[in-house]
Amino acid sequence: MSLLIDETTAEAVETGVSDTCSLDNYLSQPDHTMDDRIAAARERLGTDVVLLGHHYQRDEVIRFADYTGDSYKLSKVAAETSAKYMLFCGVHFMAETADVLGQPWQQVILPDLNAGCSMADMAEIGQVEDCWDSLTQGLGIRGQGLEGKVVPLTYMNSAAAIKAFCGERGGLVCTSSNARGAFEWAFARGEKILFLPDQHLGRNTAFGMGIPLSEMVVWDPYQINGGVTPDRLKAAKVILWKGHCSVHQRFLPEHVDRVRRDEPGMQVIVHPECRWEVCQKADTVGSTERIIDAIERAPEGASFAVGTEIHLVNRLAKRFAPLGKRVITLDDSGCLCTTMYRISPQHLAWALENLVEGRVVNRIKVDEDVKQWARVALDRMLEVKA
Ligand code: 13P
Ligand code: SF4
Repeated sequence: MSLLIDETTAEAVETGVSDTCSLDNYLSQPDHTMDDRIAAARERLGTDVVLLGHHYQRDEVIRFADYTGDSYKLSKVAAETSAKYMLFCGVHFMAETADVLGQPWQQVILPDLNAGCSMADMAEIGQVEDCWDSLTQGLGIRGQGLEGKVVPLTYMNSAAAIKAFCGERGGLVCTSSNARGAFEWAFARGEKILFLPDQHLGRNTAFGMGIPLSEMVVWDPYQINGGVTPDRLKAAKVILWKGHCSVHQRFLPEHVDRVRRDEPGMQVIVHPECRWEVCQKADTVGSTERIIDAIERAPEGASFAVGTEIHLVNRLAKRFAPLGKRVITLDDSGCLCTTMYRISPQHLAWALENLVEGRVVNRIKVDEDVKQWARVALDRMLEVKA
């Protein structure tokens, strides 16, 4: 069934919400009362809307997703879907990416605009532009600029303006599942990589390709010339932006040691946003999709300590227990991504019921001038296999 929303109405009331559909009326209701409402609104909207859900979403939200996945998989869905509305249950940079990759007649909705990403916020476009200028001077390059010398490569977890910056300067975007391929792509086109904004993913990927730590420098945007001497800069193959994920950085090497001591035979599997020291001690390092795949393919009786966001870990524990596989969190308390958590059943119901009424709330729209180059960088990313 397809319920067609009048385009003019949707555009005209993009920011206005009637009293009945005001968010406050939803937030005062308990989670479970949203289930039937979400299902009914989904039913009415039919194929006009597609729900994309990142693996870190809460169970009460992700159960309604048409597609679940890691950042790479969800980007591909966004690039290929013909739904008029993409409702993104994830964080801001993911919704921006869907808008860049979607068609001009498609609209992307983020149910809660406060669902950001602290890592993405660690690189601002002005800082990145300053860094680029400093690199030009620090490397003693005059006239022709950095093209062919330094390739800018940004992790998906960054603002659209930074993706555009990379696209315009011969660089690209990567996700945790195709970072190695993206590094190879970049090294085929330049001598050095400027990797934004996650130092850990950058370090783990480069080290996995055989680049020693001594050939990597960390660029601190709050220090003059990034806090890197010209000699070290010239010798470096990889310039790592000083950013991190506050969720994954909480996993420590001691956590792996404890599992090794207390749980013999248990495999340790972590996300590449974890520190290098943790990744070095783990058995497997991979994106959320890869983590799920590794557990799916393991034989009955296998057990895993997983270093990633707690909602995914708990979901895997529940799903695989009846199949005789044990999944626990790598640390003892479990790391929560508070911004992913912001997408609640109430926000989801609110966004969907407004759509049923012909109103697009919380639309994510990337400026056209940014979109053009961000798309170049994202298209290059999609060419690099996960
Ligand atoms: P994935 O692409 O592995 O799902 O990671 C996204 C993310 O934000 C992890 O913190
Ligand atoms: Fe950002 Fe970390 Fe949350 Fe991923 S887990 S969305 S990197 S804060």
